[in-house]
Amino acid sequence: MSIRILSGIQPTGNLHLGNYLGAIRNWVRMQDEGECYFFLADLHALSSYIDPQALAAGIREMAAALIAAGIDPTRATLFRQSAVKAHAELQWLLNGTARVGWLNRMTQFKDKSGKNREGASVALYTYPVLQAADVLLYQATHVPVGDDQKQHLELARDIATKFNADYAVDLFTIPEATIPPAAARIMSLRDGTAKMSKSDPSDMSRINLSDDADTVAQKIRKAKTDAEPLPEDPADLNDRPEARNLVSIYAALSDETPAAVLARFTGHGFGTFKPALAELVIESLRPLTTRLGQLGADTAELDRLLAIGAERARQTAAPTLAGAYRAVGLG
Ligand code: TYM
Repeated sequence: MSIRILSGIQPTGNLHLGNYLGAIRNWVRMQDEGECYFFLADLHALSSYIDPQALAAGIREMAAALIAAGIDPTRATLFRQSAVKAHAELQWLLNGTARVGWLNRMTQFKDKSGKNREGASVALYTYPVLQAADVLLYQATHVPVGDDQKQHLELARDIATKFNADYAVDLFTIPEATIPPAAARIMSLRDGTAKMSKSDPSDMSRINLSDDADTVAQKIRKAKTDAEPLPEDPADLNDRPEARNLVSIYAALSDETPAAVLARFTGHGFGTFKPALAELVIESLRPLTTRLGQLGADTAELDRLLAIGAERARQTAAPTLAGAYRAVGLG
């Protein structure tokens, strides 16, 4: 079976270090391993109200950020989800297969709707079914994501299995999540128990790809930590979430294990570790931020690349959508 890789990101806010280390760096690496489809999940972005102009701008900004991070639109198919209508159509067909009980278990819905469940949008609730459609439409075998998307991928597998069984077809490939061993969950710089997120109101909680060197250094200097020196054994960081997060970021960027990083910094406090981390983050992101600065302004070129990607994606998606309509009796 050939390898087909697919993943998406919401074009709301900036590409941050959590997205980069948890997902995008894997997208870039996987371009050598199979046929790749990467998209801007602009339909998913509608699950919370977003200013229409901000959404339109965010789509181009995120496309530029992905290209700057190393996605090559001549090798990978890069497109906007809403430009391929088959995503929304397949979602409706899959709504017949997905169970309310399955959606009720989704932790992201519970987290995002919080205490105001009755006031959450229906899109926020059915969001994982659209995500299943995204993946199944392309017969993806591998889906590189961070840890927070694992449950959504399991749901996509359940929907695919049930659809194939209910309609006695062998239509959908059962996809697998590819989650990085380290950095699958980068936490907020202000709270080591909350994930680094585009939607966190505090910009100090995350490092954005678009941040300049001074901003990165300042955010790391102000990151919440504790007064203890760094231990030798990574297990001793288990109840020090902020310290563990900073060590994980260092390890992910230097491609080392946390144990190897601690071996160098053991006994030192954050007065030593934070400047070293800041330098590593700045140096690692420098090529990306430089490319982003060059690309960002060329909106016509970005639109052209996304249009080419959408056309390719439409062609790949068409036979599976047609197969799904046939399977349910609407062929
Ligand atoms: P989104 O836009 O929230 O995040 C994009 C990718 O970044 C990962 N990620 C993180 N990884 C590690 N640490 C963090 N703090 C962190 N924050 C985000 C996410 O796991 C994700 O891989 N629903 C998806 C987009 C989507 C999708 C899909 C993904 C829509 N359809 C189909 C895969 C396949 C989302 O909102 O990701």
